[in-house]
Amino acid sequence: MTGTRTMTTAPSVADFLRDFETMSAFGATPAGGVDRQAASAPDIEQRRWFAGLLESNGFRVEYDRIGNQFGLFDAAPGEPYVVVGSHMDSQPTAGRFDGAYGVLSAAHAAFRVAAEHRSGTGTLRYNLAVVNWFNEEGSRFAPSMMGSSVYTGVMPLETALAIQDHTGMTVEEAMRPTGFLGASDGPTAAYSAEIHIEQGRILENSEITIGLVTASWAASKYRVVVKGEQAHSGATVMEDRHDALYGASLLVVFARELADRFPGVLHTAVGQLDVYPNSPVVVASETTLLLDLRCADETVLAEANALLDARFSEIESIARVTIERALSHNWGVNPYQTAGVELARSSAEAAGYSHAEIMTVAGHDSINMKEVVPTVMIFVPSVEGISHNEGEYTRDDDLVAGAAVLTDVVRRLSAGELDGESK
Ligand code: HGY
Ligand code: MN
Ligand code: MN
Repeated sequence: MTGTRTMTTAPSVADFLRDFETMSAFGATPAGGVDRQAASAPDIEQRRWFAGLLESNGFRVEYDRIGNQFGLFDAAPGEPYVVVGSHMDSQPTAGRFDGAYGVLSAAHAAFRVAAEHRSGTGTLRYNLAVVNWFNEEGSRFAPSMMGSSVYTGVMPLETALAIQDHTGMTVEEAMRPTGFLGASDGPTAAYSAEIHIEQGRILENSEITIGLVTASWAASKYRVVVKGEQAHSGATVMEDRHDALYGASLLVVFARELADRFPGVLHTAVGQLDVYPNSPVVVASETTLLLDLRCADETVLAEANALLDARFSEIESIARVTIERALSHNWGVNPYQTAGVELARSSAEAAGYSHAEIMTVAGHDSINMKEVVPTVMIFVPSVEGISHNEGEYTRDDDLVAGAAVLTDVVRRLSAGELDGESK
């Protein structure tokens, strides 16, 4: 057990891999993945386990008002924190690595830096905060990146707490009884860092171990409600119909055609479709869908959004429905701070790992964090780019390499190495 070590000894690589195996058991699925949606029983059990791990390594555990879980190590009284972490919630039937790897790497990085401080071999100019962001995935409670959005002020707390899952249960109702809704706004950040699996094939194809994330792809995520009129699916004559599912289907197809117009630059999908009343002999009166556009180029995304807009109107007249839409996420191609990219580059270089610059296509909590403090984001390879799938896999060597680079990044950020750099 990690708890038997003295506080001046950091956990070993074997401890790290064993802790990762332990983590992967929470919400484990028979096919080797996990199902650990936000505030579900396995998410809650895992949070309790993680609190124990943090405490057994001398970290104080605290929760903010939206339930972000922090492990705090105070060494520099009155100073802000280097906030390092990711998320432990998952999509349904998801992989073991997405998010969880980043939280555990962050914890082990912070344990090592704290041990160096205790033994007098390291310098802490800032305090350390390990974070497990609440509900990054947004699968049970949309939208995604909820915890970091509230922490950084992008989403009001009250809005987040009132969001409902499919059963009508709110975030507050799900989280309050767990004891994970705290009374603070969380520790103040000076810097932040996150490590994650790439969820793509670029690093693997180029045989690179460490991805230095320079920017995020732009994204527009819509919640679309198609409204028609309930009717008999057999008896109602075709010209009398206002079929909400037909309208939604035209949109699903158009999303794909849109991506095909901009190959390699635009990714689109409808990931969720809710049909009402979803009954065998009934033409649907209402269909809600979540439409996701990701783009490497803001100009292309603007063009895609304009084409989508025009198509919304066409579909309204073709299917004789009305369409309401709201943007739940809208971000640009935003850079990570250059000084942070260079810091990660030199950490990878010093450890002898191959490295290359890369953009993140997926969303991460660090995308929110980089808007408020200098933030470092690192990737490790995903085998065959598989993600949001139980077959997601990253090799142990790559997990260990990434954790080592993250440790050095945390060590250097908390020593104040980037202080004075342009932010
Ligand atoms: O990519 C996404 O938006 C997800 O939340 N990771
Ligand atoms: Mn993730
Ligand atoms: Mn994910």
